[in-house]
Amino acid sequence: MEYIINGGRPLCGEIPVYGAKNCALALLGASVLTDDDLVLRNCPDIADVANMIVLLQVMGKKVVRQGDTVTLSGRLTSICAPRSVATLLRGSALILGSAVARYHQVALPLPGGCAIGARPMDIHLCGLQALGVDVLDTGDMVSCKGVPKAAEYKLRFASVGATENLLCACVLAEGVSTLVNCATEPEVVALEQMLVQMGARISGAGSSVVQIEGVKKIHGTEFVVIPDRIVAATYLSAAAATYGNITVTNCCPQHMGAFLDLMSRRFDVRCRSDAIDFSAKRAPDGYGRVETAPYPFFPTDMQSLLLTLAACSSGKTVIVENLFENRLAHNAAELNKMGADISVENNVATVYGGKLHGANVSASDLRGGAGLVIAALAAEGQSAVSEIRHIGRGYVDLAGNLNKLGAEISVRD
Ligand code: EPZ
Repeated sequence: MEYIINGGRPLCGEIPVYGAKNCALALLGASVLTDDDLVLRNCPDIADVANMIVLLQVMGKKVVRQGDTVTLSGRLTSICAPRSVATLLRGSALILGSAVARYHQVALPLPGGCAIGARPMDIHLCGLQALGVDVLDTGDMVSCKGVPKAAEYKLRFASVGATENLLCACVLAEGVSTLVNCATEPEVVALEQMLVQMGARISGAGSSVVQIEGVKKIHGTEFVVIPDRIVAATYLSAAAATYGNITVTNCCPQHMGAFLDLMSRRFDVRCRSDAIDFSAKRAPDGYGRVETAPYPFFPTDMQSLLLTLAACSSGKTVIVENLFENRLAHNAAELNKMGADISVENNVATVYGGKLHGANVSASDLRGGAGLVIAALAAEGQSAVSEIRHIGRGYVDLAGNLNKLGAEISVRD
């Protein structure tokens, strides 16, 4: 399947943002902590969420989707995650902590995900060991066994997934646990808020030092998945690349500080509490030097969007990717096929902006695919973006939504 994109058309209009993939996956993983009904609203209907639901259903959870509301209930009947599903997404790792907390054992084939780097799980596993859990990592399967006991653990890196797993692992652990150097991404904070709503005793939510006093049991709740800040940035980047004029609604500007700071110095950006008005009149003179880093700094998930914007600018940009070791080279090569001037040295891309022309390019990961779509929207002429299954993992009908703003994207088998 590929997108056929006729570029050079300014995007205009209003577009709502749906729930965040990386929030939904963490909340779905946490559902294992209780048999009660957990009702997740604004849950995006994307491939990764669908696969996470299948994983939970195969392991015994009852899951019902009605529109954008997903209701989960019941016990796990198996503590072994099915390999056929677990290897389809990175999010499958997010059942580790809750399964160990609730069932004191779990077996997980090592998760799949994007080709953006090795993505080891050492921080997850060392953290569980610090809680007294036995961990066996055979290289393609991780097995954990034991009752988590309260402990203090410092994450060597503020890993999003490891923070989420360790939070869940501590929730039912007798005593007070302290997690130091936690990730503070909005999706992590949403998980902390939901766990508190479920009866967990958490202090320091949203900070890098979180204390969890274990409780005997936690109950169900209803929770709204936060808006997807990466999807919002994707729409804004598409408008920037096509000199468009759009309003993004149902979003959370306060979760997008680093991105919006960069954009507001080059485009007309007006933020309201849950919406952003954006217009671009000319190509900016480059974006300076931008380094990706954990929240609240520039997100790695927006790096491929910025690489495209830099390629369409009229100046120089240097982008340093500090989180994933293989998240620059593929898109740089594909954009260069479209006339970009990008050179990559280790984790540093140097971009001299200019005009892009249509070409046949292929996506290799979720956010990289979105970056190539934006490049095709900006390019003169027609492009084909293949391997679009990667995009469907995290975007609801990206082509349809961009076409609502005036893009000309069709799908070809
Ligand atoms: C989450 O992945 C997101 N995925 C990623 O989004 C996002 O890019 C990433 O956080 C960083 O923000 C989900 O939430 C499902 P990390 P995660 O653990 O948790 C290294 C997307 O496009 N690391 O914060 O896997 C790791 O290799 C996806 O939506 C270890 O070394 O990210 C990486 O270099 C892509 N050992 C860095 O830390 C570990 O045990 C950040 O990884 C864990 C991580």
